[in-house]
Amino acid sequence: MAQPRLLLHLTEEQREIQRVARDFARDEIAPYSVQWDRDRHFERSLVGKMGALGFLGMLIPPEYDGLGLDTGTYLIALEEIATVDAAVSILMGVHNSLPTQMILKWGTEAQKKRFLAPMARGEMLGAFALSEPESGSDAASLRTQAVRDGDDWVITGTKSWVSHGNEADVIIVMARTDSPGDRKGAKGIGAFIVTPDLPGFSVGKKEDKMGMRASPTVSLNFDGMRVPADRALGDVHRGFVYALQSLDNGRLGIAAQSIGIARAAFEYSLRYAGERRQFGTMIRDFEAIQFKLADMSTRVTAARALLHATAAAKDRGESITQFSSMSKLFASETAMWVTTQAVQIFGGYGYITDFPVERLFRDAKVTEIYEGTSEIQRLVVARELYATT
Ligand code: CAA
Repeated sequence: MAQPRLLLHLTEEQREIQRVARDFARDEIAPYSVQWDRDRHFERSLVGKMGALGFLGMLIPPEYDGLGLDTGTYLIALEEIATVDAAVSILMGVHNSLPTQMILKWGTEAQKKRFLAPMARGEMLGAFALSEPESGSDAASLRTQAVRDGDDWVITGTKSWVSHGNEADVIIVMARTDSPGDRKGAKGIGAFIVTPDLPGFSVGKKEDKMGMRASPTVSLNFDGMRVPADRALGDVHRGFVYALQSLDNGRLGIAAQSIGIARAAFEYSLRYAGERRQFGTMIRDFEAIQFKLADMSTRVTAARALLHATAAAKDRGESITQFSSMSKLFASETAMWVTTQAVQIFGGYGYITDFPVERLFRDAKVTEIYEGTSEIQRLVVARELYATT
């Protein structure tokens, strides 16, 4: 496919990382994507390969074996992977944005040495478990309970919608630390570093999804799972705030992923419009198609500009809650809109699995749902607007 025109100014280092990500995606992912999607196959070997390239420790400082890069550079690499296979980009996005950042920010030195460094090297894959069967958008109403018993926390409950939770070596699990008789809402939730070897841990249902089929989504069961007290992260009553703060970062990753999906749909459409002939001419000669392509490209470029401005604000140390939600909202709705146009441009060929835009259309939908629905992003933006006016 054509080289992307990013509008952004990339440094030499960013260009090099973009090139490495693009080559990796072309050689190690693209040839297998259709099959992995069809078979719901998670290619575990990618974890080690991406780790070896530094792609699983992009935001982790070198002292813990990461690359210590800025957020924008990480998002450029993530977009390259997502452009080729959005399902693969989930493992990179979740791992870099959520579990590793939570341990980096609130973990003890011992937790960082034990978990963060191997995660940066790609020897351990991280996951994030917040949602439950009955608490999705209203995340603070979660019910999974942690009870202190001697040197352990005993955790009982079920988590759902956990990306690669069946493959993860480290899972950050949010659980209630308040008591059933004295509920404290968002102030009664802790975050725990869980590993699958703990007694009482088991993997539940693997979902059969519309899209992102090469990324497993599972439920996790904790049946009196005993977690040593030194696996609690930071203040055991602040886990919900840690999770939401981390989702500010996670949502940037979903935005980059959405931009990757939209960009791929646009690039396939541009090429197809130059090959497909109807009424004696290439369909790109019709204004109906030109306007679609112009709008698709405009929206992708705008989504990327908003995302990278937000990433720069984050790296300057500013609060990005509002802009992170705007970035995720705009990019995910762009992905859905652009892939819908792409299917239309391909016509009947857009509706069958022989051509790539069908998968992109299916993959796009979840970006409007996970890590906070579009409705939740609008709610966050509106709250921030009211708070500052
Ligand atoms: N950064 C830091 N702190 C934050 C914050 C943020 N972005 N947002 C809220 N907080 C703090 C608040 O200040 C408050 O702190 P205090 O108790 O000290 O006052 C606390 O968190 C509670 O905040 P709210 O009162 O705003 O909480 P709420 O119950 O009204 O919920 C919500 C807010 C925005 C609706 C939130 O529940 C939400 O984002 N819901 C969507 C959940 C979500 O995104 N889930 C995705 C899960 S991951 C996934 O999809 C799968 C996967 O594998 C990746």
